[in-house]
Amino acid sequence: MVNYKKILVTGGLGQIGSELSLELQKRYGIENVIITDIKNEIPEVFGNNSIYIKLDVMDYAKLEEIIKKYEIDAIFHLAAILSGRGEENPFWCWDVNMNGNMNIFKAAIEYKIKRVFIPSSMAAWGIGIPKENVPQDSVLRPTSMYGVTKVAGEKLCEYMFHKYNLDCRGLRYPGIISSEALPGGGTTDYAVEIFYEAIKNKKYTSYIDKGTKLPMMYMPDCIKATIMLMEADINQLTCHGDYNLAAFSFAPEEIAAEIKKFIPDFEIDYKPDFRQKIAESWPSSIDDSVARKDWGWSPDYDIATMTKDMIEKLSKRIK
Ligand code: NAD
Ligand code: SER
Repeated sequence: MVNYKKILVTGGLGQIGSELSLELQKRYGIENVIITDIKNEIPEVFGNNSIYIKLDVMDYAKLEEIIKKYEIDAIFHLAAILSGRGEENPFWCWDVNMNGNMNIFKAAIEYKIKRVFIPSSMAAWGIGIPKENVPQDSVLRPTSMYGVTKVAGEKLCEYMFHKYNLDCRGLRYPGIISSEALPGGGTTDYAVEIFYEAIKNKKYTSYIDKGTKLPMMYMPDCIKATIMLMEADINQLTCHGDYNLAAFSFAPEEIAAEIKKFIPDFEIDYKPDFRQKIAESWPSSIDDSVARKDWGWSPDYDIATMTKDMIEKLSKRIK
């Protein structure tokens, strides 16, 4: 385990940030994880002892103040505008994602932060890729503004490493499926919504069309990969902010068929919207052999075990 003194999480109340922050608290101590987000209040699930500060990642002065006050030495920078919301307002997406990244880089260099995590996404890909098993080194021609910011983030991680010796790491997450915090406006949100609607109403209208297969991952594997990468020895790493990461892939009808094993009268229909075009530009599956070789990555969940766990967890909460 890496001996971080104090960890800063940005976007810590989002879909990934919520569960990652709780896991970091367990691992490094509740008093050593400084959770931040632009939201006003932290949900009850975090309990009374969690440290929460409202922080807009575009506010450099406030970011600096927190880093100095808590003597932060590791940052998990999760604050971002995702692909769906980003495509509705591309200039805002650029502002938040890029100014947020640049503030984190600047502060990390200034305050000699030991390690920084900035996630990338399968949205970094677009035109000109093989649909199946897209390799680690492949052309990056995203078609969404979100994807453009992810490619820039990856390249900047590598630049900051070579220019300033900043240890910045990142993963190209596939679509993340989770049972706790709701997703925040991405193209793959349907793969979470479908579970809620299946349990509540036994039907779901998918905004992603039949046959559109996308790479996905269950949250416990997302958290596991993030922590494994952030704890890996730097000498093991051959990439910086752009490790391919994969678990399983499915199209809407395939996840619907899995759900039907538990809810036999569940029905799905299709009404594709603007997110269909984004989904079509992404790969169907990802080759993550470099992550497997460099730092021993392998996922624990497949589509069947993820579906069983999601249904068990959500059924207890949703009536
Ligand atoms: P999310 O939208 O659920 O959470 C992002 C959080 O950032 C939200 O809580 C939001 O309030 C906060 N935020 C937005 N603007 C902010 C600002 N200006 N200052 C501070 N906080 C702000 O997203 P997520 O799914 O948790 O994603 C986290 C990271 O992982 C992002 O970089 C995202 O691009 C990446 N990622 C996510 C997925 C996925 O499927 N969830 C897939 C690929 C990559
Ligand atoms: N799940 C994310 C999105 O759909 C991928 O980065 O935006």
